[in-house]
Amino acid sequence: MTRAFRTAAVIGAGTIGLSWATLFAAHGLTVRVTDPRPDLAEAVAEALDRNAPQLAARGLDVTGLADRVHLAADVAEAVRDADVVQENGPERVEFKQDLFATLVREAPDHALLLSSSSAIPSSAFTPELPDEAAARVLIGHPFNPPHLVPLVEVVPGERTGEDAVQDAVDFYTSVGRTPVVERKEIPGFVGNRLQNALSREAVYLVEQGVVTPEDLDKVMTNSLGLRWATVGPFLGSHLGGGPGGYRHMAEHIGASMKQMWAGLGTPSQTDEEQERLIEAVEKAYGSSTYPELTETRDRRQLAVLSALDSADKEEN
Ligand SMILES: NC(=O)c1ccc[n+]([C@@H]2O[C@H](COP(=O)([O-])OP(=O)(O)OC[C@H]3O[C@@H](n4cnc5c(N)ncnc54)[C@H](O)[C@@H]3O)[C@@H](O)[C@H]2O)c1
Repeated sequence: MTRAFRTAAVIGAGTIGLSWATLFAAHGLTVRVTDPRPDLAEAVAEALDRNAPQLAARGLDVTGLADRVHLAADVAEAVRDADVVQENGPERVEFKQDLFATLVREAPDHALLLSSSSAIPSSAFTPELPDEAAARVLIGHPFNPPHLVPLVEVVPGERTGEDAVQDAVDFYTSVGRTPVVERKEIPGFVGNRLQNALSREAVYLVEQGVVTPEDLDKVMTNSLGLRWATVGPFLGSHLGGGPGGYRHMAEHIGASMKQMWAGLGTPSQTDEEQERLIEAVEKAYGSSTYPELTETRDRRQLAVLSALDSADKEEN
């Protein structure tokens, strides 16, 4: 039977934590947020103001949203009555190791303990926990911003229990996300490995003077980005092979594809190259502020999600 998740603790209220907090509250959960940052109250209020209209545009009832989000003075207070904890602190093994030891001590025994970690697998920060505690720790890695981008990579550690994996899938589904369970811990998980494979080539192409950062972004958003919002790389190739499908693609274009893989670049990214790249990106986007750029990104992201909803409705 699916477990009930009524109270969530959000540990760390930076980019990711603030977004999760709004999403959980918009799905009716009581949320307790903690972060040592001195401007926590303002940051939470500002995030709720910014994100609530976006969630309303996704069809959620955001009435009383702010009343469900509470500030907690510390981790112990945040997790005291939590059914689920989402950790979003700094990406450092020692930090997560200390924090999860506290979570195990302070949270109720039934609480599901999730980490947003982008690259560190949970086995790396749970070695000192007893089996029964490690059994309920796992990764729930979102994509930024998690209140809009649906994917959550659910990655169990070596000692995570199967019931915790199912609970995590149920929990993320209940807050409108699309969980995908990944069965082997690998640094960066799947999404960030794919992203980094692409970033490596993007940086190489800019370093080589083939394209500017702005034009590279234009290539992505006007081709692969659009395509990949509708079909992933494998279905894309299956269709790219025509009626003969992936087999035709692999057997006929496979050899030239392998040749292309062998010629992919590795950027040098010496300090000078890195500085040159930073300056080129700042030249392209530095005249807009962070709120301006995120507002535009979120508006366009919402438009894509709504368009996909409409297309799927027409099909059904
Ligand atoms: N930014 C992204 O695109 C992204 C995407 C997916 C996952 N993540 C992961 O999410 C986590 C958080 O990333 P972020 O980008 O939100 O970082 P961030 O730097 O914006 O936020 C981290 C927050 O943790 C707080 N913090 C520090 N010590 C703490 C403590 N003892 N207790 C509670 N909070 C504490 C900091 O004050 C800060 O506000 C990381 O593990 C990161 O890898 C980030």
